[in-house]
Amino acid sequence: MAIQLVEKVRDMQLQAERWRQEGKLIGLVPTMGYLHEGHLSLIRIARERADVVVTSIFVNPTQFAPHEDYQRYPRDLPRDMALAEQAGCDVIFHPSVEEMYPAGYLTYVEVEKITGVLCGRSRPTHFRGVTTVVAKLFNIVKPHVAVFGQKDAQQALVVRRMAQDLNFDLEIVVAPIVREPDGLAMSSRNSYLSPEERRQAVVLSKALQRASELVAAGERSAARLIEEMEAVIRTAPSAKIDYVAVVDANTLEEVKELRGQVLIALAVWIGSTRLIDNVVVEV
Ligand code: PAJ
Repeated sequence: MAIQLVEKVRDMQLQAERWRQEGKLIGLVPTMGYLHEGHLSLIRIARERADVVVTSIFVNPTQFAPHEDYQRYPRDLPRDMALAEQAGCDVIFHPSVEEMYPAGYLTYVEVEKITGVLCGRSRPTHFRGVTTVVAKLFNIVKPHVAVFGQKDAQQALVVRRMAQDLNFDLEIVVAPIVREPDGLAMSSRNSYLSPEERRQAVVLSKALQRASELVAAGERSAARLIEEMEAVIRTAPSAKIDYVAVVDANTLEEVKELRGQVLIALAVWIGSTRLIDNVVVEV
């Protein structure tokens, strides 16, 4: 069966309800489109775990601040549909902004505390937009399983927290980061980079690689790791650090001495493009 396009909330809910009545397991992969191999890996995981797979493609305005890249965020629906279909997606849910946030819209979902650190520092309204749209997608697509990427480690944690706190009856799966051959984490925003910036963008993964090696060699001081990572990042003339952090992988609280599951995360501007990456180390 060819991939189907659904643009209305009501149509998606009716379809989801029919599937549920047929006893079908529904998998959801929420995205903002301009699909790459990272997104497609999530679709393949959903395919393995569910009978029907829905990929949502919605550039969600509420998770962008006014000065951010909402307007210029890359969009290519026909290409996305072809790629998603090849990866095993059955339905693309692609609503308009008016469909998701009609006139009179007033409701937001907010996870506290863990949204105020890391990306939440420089993007204070971002996660409120993410949890709001993801909660809406859960109510529209009614998934049994939803797949997110570890690329956005904080987002995955925040969504898990929301699902648990609001008793969403579904399983959340977090999939590994898919990288380019040189190590750069795949991202729709990589398309903003000039060829020279693209070369320099490798410092994000290089810095994390360096940190992992130091941890493997016995380094346990977060300050030392941060220093080393910042030195790697400074080798790129176009790089400007937003944050480099070493935190508890579950609470996102800063750690001084590494212990247990530790998230090493960074956000770096390469020219006018903000990129993020991370690695989890087990000590
Ligand atoms: P988007 O940036 O399109 O990412 C959609 C999903 O793909 C997220 O779960 C993200 O973590 C995952 N992803 C992106 N790049 C990846 C990579 N290189 N490897 C593995 N997974 C990757 O994240 C969003 O959209 C939005 O915030 C959304 C959750 C859709 C809410 O609007």
